[in-house]
Amino acid sequence: MIHVVTGAQWGDEGKGKIVDLFSQKSDITVRFHGGNNAGHTVINSYGTFPLHLVPSGVFTKKGITCITSGVVLDLEVLTAEIAMLEKVLSNLRKRLLISPRCHIILPYHKLLDRLYEEAKGKSKTGTTGRGIGPVYADKVSYQGIRLNDFQDVNRLREKLEIALSIKNKIIRAFGESPLDVEEILQEQMVHYNKIRDMVREPMSLLFDAYKKKKTILYEGAQGMFLDNDWGTYPFVTASSTVAGSITASSGVPAQYINRVTGVTKAYTTRVGSGPFPTELSDTVGEKLRAVGKEYGATTGRPRRCGWFDAELVRFASKVNGFTDLAITKIDVLDSFETIKICTGYTLKGKRVSYENLDAYSLAEVRGIYKVMKGWKTPLGDIKKYALLPKEAKVYLLELEKQTGTKVLTISVGPNRNQTLYR
Ligand code: GDP
Ligand code: IMO
Ligand code: MG
Repeated sequence: MIHVVTGAQWGDEGKGKIVDLFSQKSDITVRFHGGNNAGHTVINSYGTFPLHLVPSGVFTKKGITCITSGVVLDLEVLTAEIAMLEKVLSNLRKRLLISPRCHIILPYHKLLDRLYEEAKGKSKTGTTGRGIGPVYADKVSYQGIRLNDFQDVNRLREKLEIALSIKNKIIRAFGESPLDVEEILQEQMVHYNKIRDMVREPMSLLFDAYKKKKTILYEGAQGMFLDNDWGTYPFVTASSTVAGSITASSGVPAQYINRVTGVTKAYTTRVGSGPFPTELSDTVGEKLRAVGKEYGATTGRPRRCGWFDAELVRFASKVNGFTDLAITKIDVLDSFETIKICTGYTLKGKRVSYENLDAYSLAEVRGIYKVMKGWKTPLGDIKKYALLPKEAKVYLLELEKQTGTKVLTISVGPNRNQTLYR
């Protein structure tokens, strides 16, 4: 059985928490796209971990974890994360597989990310600065360097020489110092040597596991509206964040997908630039940020906050094929007198839908809101759905109705055990 978990908003929905939870009943967990622009927070009996590359489902005794070809790797970050995890998971090395097809983020990708952002000025995307756009650009324009290039140091050197012969021209034009092939090569080989025993294509393992009726959990990064095709382009990330992209990234057939869980906060947040129809630039937004501790797990930037946007999650549900939703951080709304849900948009007085809007017209829409009564009770210690206050149940049912998607999982706090099931 293949179970995919993806973000239904602009990232940071709590995918790490939900994947850690679901992984307890899965045999294999897979990260399938993005890089260390992701920051997935896991809090369980092992401790608190902000994971950037290793799947959040790693905290099991025997489960296999895989990083498949769609993921881009900063080897310094990966090796540091593995070293950190090995302190609590002694057998990690034996159960982590990293696809040799993964592309590598190199120093020039990070430098170019910064230079492009600076050049765009106030139109910048607000990237995480991790080199994500430039590394995926190299991938699709046949200039990338993959893990399997590290098997032959001469081939790697040759590829780096070609890459730098192009990149250094751009870097010099921006007035920066050119980068040195040997320096990059030596540094990258040191990192590679720390992980080389884990570099093995996971495709057959995943294929066979599916045939043996094992449960394979796929962990999405970012979220629907950061998707390169369907998000608020150009205020997006470079990869495909939707559930269907697991097939390209890990080589499993599309018809194998059984369940797709969309993770969404009970309100909305966004980091970086771009339109955000339900954003609250007032004390209500500040309260959401303060109570929800809405600061980026990767960059520490304050997250922009706003009400739940059902127009967006409805769209995300269509494109991902959500079979169910996991609603997180509902406890953040505990002290609100009233809570609003955006049910749709108007533009110049006419009803419009996300599907037909670009990022610039989305910035102009007005939300249509339904006002809900708050429950004014702390939810963090509640152990059963049936025990939720009536107003919280009414709120969840309204989210379900507005998004057209069944709510099966409700998260009332950051810990693994602060979860309710319907
Ligand atoms: P991800 O990128 O989707 O994995 O999400 P992040 O980890 O970046 O951000 C989610 C934040 O919310 C983390 O700090 C989590 O520990 C926290 N969190 C997750 N679920 C809940 C919840 O139900 N309630 C509260 N209060 N915090 C939560
Ligand atoms: P997780 O997996 C929230 C945003 C950046 C920026 C845009 C492009 O933790 O949900 P990039 O560095 O990818 O080129 O930046 O995408 N972004 C995220 N926002 N959560 C993330 O990941 C994000 N990954 C990228 O803030 O707006
Ligand atoms: Mg995050």
